[in-house]
Amino acid sequence: MASAIRNDSTLRAKVLVPEKLSPDGLSLLKTSLDVDERKGLSADELLSIIPDYEALLVRSETKVTAAVLQAAKKLKVVARAGVGVDNIDVEAATKNGIVVVNSPSGNIGAAAEHTIALLMSMARNIPDASSSLKSNSQIFANSTVHLVGLIVARLAKGLGMKINAVDPYASSAVAASASVTLMPSLSVLLPTADFLTIHTPLIASTKGMISTAELAQMKSGSRILNVARGGTVDEPALLAALESGHIAGAAVDVFATEPPSPDSASAKLIAHPRVIPTPHLGASTVEAQENVSIDVCEQVLQILGGALPRSAVNAPLILPEEYKKLQPFVRLVEKLGSIYTQHYGSAENPLSNRSTFDLIYEGEISGMNNTKPLFAALIKGLTSPISNSAGLNVNIVNAELVARERGIIVNEKHSRDNPSHSYSSLITLVATAAKNTAKEGPEPQGHEYDQIISGTCSESQPLISRLDRFATSFVPEGTLLICHNFDSPGKIGVVGSILGKEGVNINFMSVAPVSKGKQQRTNEGQVYDEALMILGVDKAVDESVAKALVHEGGVLSASVVSL
Ligand code: MLT
Repeated sequence: MASAIRNDSTLRAKVLVPEKLSPDGLSLLKTSLDVDERKGLSADELLSIIPDYEALLVRSETKVTAAVLQAAKKLKVVARAGVGVDNIDVEAATKNGIVVVNSPSGNIGAAAEHTIALLMSMARNIPDASSSLKSNSQIFANSTVHLVGLIVARLAKGLGMKINAVDPYASSAVAASASVTLMPSLSVLLPTADFLTIHTPLIASTKGMISTAELAQMKSGSRILNVARGGTVDEPALLAALESGHIAGAAVDVFATEPPSPDSASAKLIAHPRVIPTPHLGASTVEAQENVSIDVCEQVLQILGGALPRSAVNAPLILPEEYKKLQPFVRLVEKLGSIYTQHYGSAENPLSNRSTFDLIYEGEISGMNNTKPLFAALIKGLTSPISNSAGLNVNIVNAELVARERGIIVNEKHSRDNPSHSYSSLITLVATAAKNTAKEGPEPQGHEYDQIISGTCSESQPLISRLDRFATSFVPEGTLLICHNFDSPGKIGVVGSILGKEGVNINFMSVAPVSKGKQQRTNEGQVYDEALMILGVDKAVDESVAKALVHEGGVLSASVVSL
């Protein structure tokens, strides 16, 4: 990821904060970024200003829709100061290569405390008692609290409660260490619960997870809490269960619609005499808001600084030390992909009719397990030179999706055999021929050949060491003119003079002979003497000049590669 953090104040990356966020985190951003705090933006206003921003920081109010993300051409990160990302269209963010980060643990302590506060209020009828001095005491000890999730367990245990839970992600060892008994399913858990509290995000599989059938399985007179997400408990079903008296009470901090519209099930729940409602207060402590603000602001700085965040919702987790080791190779692999498309491809067949690639890691780099950044760099390199990719920001967030959409298959191979070269690490891109796709040149008719580019890093600088059948060594930067020719006297002079006439200056030149054992032969067995001339030039070279090199200069083929 390229760095967007700049010292020059006229060029500083812009961050939009449309909700109230604790200043502790924002002050971290303000030294290097332009932070716009714009509370109360309408959906249309957000849509119209978002194209100016590289980062968007939200809590739960701002709806980060697909339309917003599509319009946000500069946006690199949406940061959610909190846990739930249900107000963000994560799929659309992924498609547009925008990282979504959250703060998975910054406020869970506060939410757990609020759950316990509501549980006690409900069990001890505190809201009514405080207004009417009427008491309806219950006894906690020996009650069973049932959790979907484990986070309230520690506090509930302190109240002398027995804790059962359903959590598909928790191991029984982790559960046991929190004195929680894991139950195999909701239907086993529900019938014996005195209190049920929900702690899951709102996703397709949790929407309405507690509805009429589940409530019917609960003990008569049991109580229910929701401090997680509105929508996980079906509100009309809960209202009906309260009305019938089957469920004795509910404490609800989150609603299907926030703020609830009049006459909605959410509004009816709030008004119900056996419901204790709070207005999404779970995480609203000063400490929790400081935590989430600092957590996500640090991640925004990481992303805009070119690093990977620690809590991305839509990108793989890569440890900073792993990412540092991979960095030079990320640049190398992107160049391999870009050279591939520009050298072998054509306007009609950008990937030269090939869609299956081997990416072979040899030497030290073969020991890296997490090579997702290299995969992403390859997809970026292969696709960015293609005109219909213009404006598409391919990165670790959306590389798999882009590859899938374009039918590109990459087989990553870690070769731990004795390397056939002296580089400490070598990466080779191979596009295997499905049929004869040779562009021009002396390929014997019907010969199917692999298109190969290899490279290494020398002191972090990418170097190309092989192009096709030719051993070479050049820095993949700037504009390159790659000419394939018969290795005969005078070729360099002819090419130099054609370029000179066009006012193109040659900065460097590398002549790459065909690798030993890779020579092509005629049907009569005669070896072709071929070479590649790789010229670094000082300006863009027109297609017409490349054609002139073939027709007047007698080279076999010429391609222009801009890196
Ligand atoms: C969260 O998802 O972090 C909590 O619900 C609090 C909030 O919405 O900010």
